[in-house]
Amino acid sequence: MRSNTLRIAAIPGDGIGAEVIGAGCRVLEALAAAHPDLGIDIERFDWGSERYLATGAMMPADGLDALRGHDAILFGSAGDPRVPDHISLWGLRLAICQGLDQYANVRPARLLPGIRSPLADVTPEALDWVIVRENSEGEYSGAGGRVHRGFPHEVGLDVSVMTRTGVERIMRFALELARSRPRKKLTVVTKSNAQRHAMVMWDEVFQAVRDEYRDVECDRMLVDAMTTRMVLKPESIDVVVASNLHADILSDLAAALTGSLGIAPTGNINPDPAIPSMFEPIHGSAFDIMGKGVANPIGTFWSIVMMLDHLGLKDASAELMAAIERLTASGKTLTPDLGGSAGTEAVTDALIKAL
Ligand code: IPM
Ligand code: MG
Repeated sequence: MRSNTLRIAAIPGDGIGAEVIGAGCRVLEALAAAHPDLGIDIERFDWGSERYLATGAMMPADGLDALRGHDAILFGSAGDPRVPDHISLWGLRLAICQGLDQYANVRPARLLPGIRSPLADVTPEALDWVIVRENSEGEYSGAGGRVHRGFPHEVGLDVSVMTRTGVERIMRFALELARSRPRKKLTVVTKSNAQRHAMVMWDEVFQAVRDEYRDVECDRMLVDAMTTRMVLKPESIDVVVASNLHADILSDLAAALTGSLGIAPTGNINPDPAIPSMFEPIHGSAFDIMGKGVANPIGTFWSIVMMLDHLGLKDASAELMAAIERLTASGKTLTPDLGGSAGTEAVTDALIKAL
């Protein structure tokens, strides 16, 4: 049983991570101040590429143990031009996701009030999706290798690994999520026409559990056709489940269609309440705007909404989401990616005021 003081591990990481996580911590403190029964205890971890350059490791060897005592993790980003991307990714974010078996990556994509979509005439009701990304295996399993390094006949392999357990749990997660939403629809994204082993199993496992969820309306879509449908028929989509790489790509498209990558949130979820789940904006480290104070903190604020909801703090979560929507609806204090001229600090001040 959790006490009513939330123990949050904050990992700003690289690039604009420090700016947006700093903004997020201010919002968490403001929420705690408004709710005398809600305590927030934030522990900050200096993990990331600076640490890698100084010590050779993105995080300490016992890093996962340090996280386990927390209720949730708030993560900024990993990625630095001085460090190869596969090192910074596998040394921190994937090490945490896979190490804590946060197997469901949940990515809501919703057009917020006042935000313009690049799609003409799309309404907020028509663009309200949740993409569920398999987060523990598939194309990101890490299996593979390099053989005959440096020779003309060098071979490189990245092996996509799917397990029956892994597929079944993500299908059930997505079906449960679809069931909890008003429209109760699920689209299963696949590529089993071309990928004839694991992707065929992906489809079969879905069919095997699907009967237990007859109240959910399901359809299946090849990933390439799904991109077209997202653009041309957004209103036909509710919850989407896809493999690790497919959902990575589709979620960037979804974020762009909802107005800006700077808004999009995500949760890396292990449904076991004893294991901390991790919440982060999906925008990445954005080194081009680092230190300029213009990073959009809304992706982090929305990620905190997801975190509070996951921890069962439904009221605080709803209040924060309502404040974000008031902020976007008024359109007065927005960062440049949303056509405004405000900085991170000003947006955070406005959000705290809206709270
Ligand atoms: C994401 C990101 C990461 C991913 C990058 C930073 C490796 O694009 O969270 O979607 O591909 O998983
Ligand atoms: Mg991505």
